[in-house]
Amino acid sequence: MNQQALLRNFSIIAHIDHGKTTLTDRLLEMTDTVEPRLMHERYLDSHPIAQERGVTIKLAPVRMRYPLAPKQEKIFNFKFCILNLIDTPGHIDFAYEVSRSLVCCEGAILMVDASQGIQAQTLAHFHQAEKLKLKIIPVINKVDLAQSQPQKVALELESALGFKAEEILYISAKTGQNVDQLLKTVVAKIPPPPDNTDKPLRALVFDSFYHPHKGVVVYLRIKDGVLNKQSLKMMVGGAQFTPLEIGYLTPQMTPTKQLSCGQVGYLATGLKNISLCKVGDTITNAKFNLLAGEKNLKLEPLSGYKEPNPVVFFDFYPVENQNFNLLKQAIEQLKLNDVALTFEPTGSPALGNGFQLGFLGVFHALITQERLEKDFNLNIIATSPSVGYQIVWKNGQTQQLQNASQLKDLSSVAQIKEPWIKAAILTPVRFLGNIMKLCQNSRAVLIDQQYYNDLVNLTYHLPLVGLIEGFYDQLKSVSSGFASLDYQVLDYRPVEALKMEVLIAGAVIDSLASLTEKEKAVFKARALAKKLKAVIPRQLFEVPIQVSLNGQVVARETIKAFRKDVTAKLYGGDQTRKDKLLKKQKKGKKRMKQIGRINIPQEAFMAVLKIDQSV
Ligand code: GTP
Repeated sequence: MNQQALLRNFSIIAHIDHGKTTLTDRLLEMTDTVEPRLMHERYLDSHPIAQERGVTIKLAPVRMRYPLAPKQEKIFNFKFCILNLIDTPGHIDFAYEVSRSLVCCEGAILMVDASQGIQAQTLAHFHQAEKLKLKIIPVINKVDLAQSQPQKVALELESALGFKAEEILYISAKTGQNVDQLLKTVVAKIPPPPDNTDKPLRALVFDSFYHPHKGVVVYLRIKDGVLNKQSLKMMVGGAQFTPLEIGYLTPQMTPTKQLSCGQVGYLATGLKNISLCKVGDTITNAKFNLLAGEKNLKLEPLSGYKEPNPVVFFDFYPVENQNFNLLKQAIEQLKLNDVALTFEPTGSPALGNGFQLGFLGVFHALITQERLEKDFNLNIIATSPSVGYQIVWKNGQTQQLQNASQLKDLSSVAQIKEPWIKAAILTPVRFLGNIMKLCQNSRAVLIDQQYYNDLVNLTYHLPLVGLIEGFYDQLKSVSSGFASLDYQVLDYRPVEALKMEVLIAGAVIDSLASLTEKEKAVFKARALAKKLKAVIPRQLFEVPIQVSLNGQVVARETIKAFRKDVTAKLYGGDQTRKDKLLKKQKKGKKRMKQIGRINIPQEAFMAVLKIDQSV
C-alpha cells in the first residue's frame, strides 16, 4: 500500500476568534508534535504581535503524525497517518491567506463558535472551500461555555450551509473535549491527495519568506511528481536554482531527502531576491522542457490564485527625518513576507520623505505600522488613509490616484471614480431595520437578501471609502456586535467628489488632504475641524484650523494658546522629580510631527478615519 493513502492535507476555517488557533494547539499536543515542556498557547503564531493581540496574521503549515489503530497498521503497513495542517488567519483583511491555504488541501474543518453562531466569514470561507471541492467537516466549538447554544447553531449550519445533523461535531478546543473524535473524523472523511507520482514535477508555491542563510524559502504543495535536490525552475518567473534544503515543518524546519506527491513542505532556494519566487508560481524540473521537447510534451503551470490588490492606502513617515533609510529597509524586509503589501516613495513639503503603502484593509495597515515600530524600533506617523481613486482628465486620460494631495489641477478633471465593494452582511433579523438605515446612509445599494431561520444574509454594493470612514464599527454598534461583514472589491464608479484640504496656522497640510463625496462634504469638513481641534495639543500661541472644499474655506476652529507646565505643581522641591516629569512629557510627544512651529500628533493624521461617525 502506498504511503500516499495515509496523507491528509487540511485547513481550519472560521470567522475571527471562533477558536482555530486554540484547536491547533490541542492538535499539536494530541499528536505529540510539540513536546509538552515546550508547548505554549498560540504555538504557531510565532509573531509577538499575533501573540499579544491574540490574532493570527500569517498562515502557518505544520506536519503531524497520527498513530493508526493496530488493525489499520496491518492493512497499510505503516504506523502513522501524516496530517498536514495549514493554520489560517480569520480577519477579513487576511482572507487572501485563507484562499492560498485552501488550494493546498483536500479538506477543511469549518469551525463555528457555539455562542456566536455562523458569521459572514463562516459563509465566505465555506463557499470558497466548496468551490475547490474540499471535504468540509462542520464543527461547533466552545460547547463548554455557559452561554453556548449548540443546538441553535447546528440548525443554522443545516439551513444556511446544507449540512446534515449527524455530520456535525461538538467540541471544546479549550478543554479538548471531543477533539480526539474530530481527529478520527479528519482521517476517515478527508480523502488522501491524488497519486500523481508518475507525472512530471509540479509544486505550487503558497508562501515564501527570506532566511538570512538559506535565501528565499518557499512553502509548497507537491501536486505532481516528486521533489528532490534536482535542478529546478520557477515556471512563470523563470528563475533556476538547485535547492539548498528540502523539508517538512514540524513546525520547525526539518530537512528530508525528498517530498513525495501530495506532501506539504518547504524548500530553501538559496536565491537572494524574493521577487524571483512569487507566491502562486509553480516549481518544476529545470530540465523538463528539454525532455518534454523530445517527447512532445507540454507542461502548464498550476493555476495559482489571484494576486491580492491593495485597496487602502496610507503614507508612512519616520518621525525623525534622518530615519528615512531605516524605514525603507524595514518596509523592504516586511514586504519579503507579505505579498499583499505594496510601497512607493512619496514626499510632502510638510512631512519630508516617506512611503506610500498599499494594504488590504485598515487592520492590515495598523498591524503593519505596529510591526515596523516594534520589530524595527522605528517611530512612524501614518497619514492620509485613502482608497485608490481614478481620475479621468478632460483630455481623455485616466490616472490612478492614491492621495488627494497629488490632485492639483481641479479644472482639468472630467470625472472622478471610486472603488465599490460587494459586501455580505450576516445579521440576526432583529437588527435588519438598523442595518438598512446605516446602509442607506452609506450610499449602499441592496442587491439580495436571504433568510436562514432568524438570520438574514444581505448582499449590498457600496463605496469602499465607507470602510475607512468607520462603516464596520457602526455596523457592530447598530447590531450590538452581532452583525458581521465580508467583502470583495467590485469595480470603479463615478462619484461627485470635492477636494478637502486642511490649513493649520494658515499653511496647507498636504498629508491631511482627502477627496470627499459632495453631498456630505460640508458636514464632514466641520466634523474634521472639530476633531482636529480636539486632538492637536494647545501651543504657546493661538492656532487657527481651517478646512476648505475645492479651495473654499467652509469650516474654522481655533485652538487657544496654552502652556502646559507639568512641573507647576511641584513647588520648587526635588529637581530629579521635575526632570523625570519633563522627560515623561517629552516622551509623550514622540509620535508627533513638527510642522512649522506646531507639533501635530498621530491622531490628527488619522482624523479622517471614522469621521463619518461624528456627522
Ligand atoms: P484568529 O486567529 O484571530 O482568527 O482567532 P482564532 O479563530 O484562532 O481564535 P482563538 O483560537 O484565538 O480563540 C479566540 C478566543 O476564544 C480565545 O480567547 C480562546 O481562548 C477562546 N476559545 C477558543 N476555543 C475555546 C473553547 O472551546 N472554549 C472556550 N471557553 N473558549 C475558547
